[in-house]
Amino acid sequence: MTLDINRSDLTVGVVGTGAMGRGIAQVTAQGGMKAIMFDAAPGGAAKARAAIVETLKGLVAKGRLTDADLAKADANLGVADKLEDLKGCHVVVEAVFENLEVKQKLFGELEAVIAPDAILASNTSSIRIASIARALKHRDRVCGMHYFNPVPLMKLVEVIRAADTAQWVVDAMVALGKRQTRVPVVVGDTPGFLVNLGGTAIGTEGLRIYQEGRATPAQVDAVMRDTCGFRMGPFELMDLTGIDVNFPARKIIYEGFFHDRRMTPSPYHESLYAAGKLGRKTSGGWYAYDAKGAKVDPGADHLPSVEPAKSVVIMDTHNQKLVSLVNADGAKMLGADDGKSPILVAPIGKDCTTTAIELGLDPKRTVAVDLTGDTAKRLTIMTAPGADPVVRDSVAALLAKSGAKVTLIKDSPGFVAQRMVAMIANLGCEMAMIGIASAADVDTAMTLGLNYPRGPLALADWLGVKECHEILVQAQAITGDDRYRPSQWLRRRAQLGLSATTVE
Ligand SMILES: NC(=O)c1ccc[n+]([C@@H]2O[C@H](COP(=O)([O-])OP(=O)(O)OC[C@H]3O[C@@H](n4cnc5c(N)ncnc54)[C@H](O)[C@@H]3O)[C@@H](O)[C@H]2O)c1
Repeated sequence: MTLDINRSDLTVGVVGTGAMGRGIAQVTAQGGMKAIMFDAAPGGAAKARAAIVETLKGLVAKGRLTDADLAKADANLGVADKLEDLKGCHVVVEAVFENLEVKQKLFGELEAVIAPDAILASNTSSIRIASIARALKHRDRVCGMHYFNPVPLMKLVEVIRAADTAQWVVDAMVALGKRQTRVPVVVGDTPGFLVNLGGTAIGTEGLRIYQEGRATPAQVDAVMRDTCGFRMGPFELMDLTGIDVNFPARKIIYEGFFHDRRMTPSPYHESLYAAGKLGRKTSGGWYAYDAKGAKVDPGADHLPSVEPAKSVVIMDTHNQKLVSLVNADGAKMLGADDGKSPILVAPIGKDCTTTAIELGLDPKRTVAVDLTGDTAKRLTIMTAPGADPVVRDSVAALLAKSGAKVTLIKDSPGFVAQRMVAMIANLGCEMAMIGIASAADVDTAMTLGLNYPRGPLALADWLGVKECHEILVQAQAITGDDRYRPSQWLRRRAQLGLSATTVE
């Protein structure tokens, strides 16, 4: 086939002009291509056209667009009264309701209308592209074009290659995405595609930590923001996107991967869904919201009003981060146990109980400190069951002298930050290994699609590839849960001392 995707008169049909279709038409028109909109609802496409023009006028008023840009985009926007009017389109992107039968029927109708070398793309977020294409005569020219909401602001587009999609179609859609000023990544036709699958890690691990009673949603969110640089923690994000959106999505992905324990949803998530506590939109989800819509944050800080510890035993004097932290806070460091001072440990992957037992320490006086990420902002501590709260609080008060906030959680393999980052990294490694996308595209997509500070593979490098692997090995051993089994991609790179981004 010989469709020239760069032709100056390229015409893109957009079917379904709801939230997504409007955005797709807008970036198409702004990218200098014709966008012909069709919607089954009478007057729907014309309404969408008017809404896009209003949005563009708003951008002109803010100085982000010139009058000439507006006039050009306006001239590029067309409305079709019936599907047959899309016959001259070189590409048609579908953004109708998320329903397989509706999409299959529509694609059948479109195939009868458009030219043999025109491309058909679906913006579905959860339906297998191959299943939409199944009954068509020319399945090779069908692919997914998965944009993110709101389209004009979210630069990423996942170009989904289905079983029969021809290479020229993938190449053409990558080029189309670029013309629309998107950043395209090529992704396999698997459940959740790339970003929605990758996003499973942070949500399910946050829920797991909460379900185990290790930390509250507010604590998990604060740790992810302050120590790992995430704009939002998993619970804030679930409340923002809506529990009615993310709980069913979690289930689809879990079923789609045949109950892989890495993707296990949580009954606690379902409880909110069942109760209709859907997040911000219902003024209640993981958090409560006040009358102005502001989140009521129960806090994540442990601020005991006790004397800071004056001396501490540091078991691992090679741990420079821990030594300098205690030094800066002005406590005396003891190389050997005096039988009464707090004992500080900084385990990787192990909980405080296991660490104290293995090292032969007094578990009542052992306090584990997580040194992951930005320790100037927040430190997480935990102790074994039965620990002395006075000793623990004297350590919290000591650490708080550095200006960092202190979060006290229940004993957990890998605290919060280690567990969360290792799980995000592990799933990213697995996605690269099983070929959902290239390693580089996994990172690009997760940073652009979910605003992560780093992609999953870069996160593994940030935490340390060996450390990441160790956290997972320990978590699997301690919990006995296969959920934590390290990806082979990660294991090999940890063994070889290589970056997680190293390709084969
Ligand atoms: N909203 C998101 O965040 C998001 C993100 C990525 C992908 N998607 C996917 O994009 C698609 C559209 O989602 P949306 O949020 O824009 O939905 P929406 O409900 O806002 O809009 C759907 C539009 O399609 C029209 N429509 C329905 N059946 C039609 C048909 N047979 N022919 C023509 N028009 C028809 C409806 O009248 C409506 O205007 C879905 O497949 C969804 O999964 C949505």
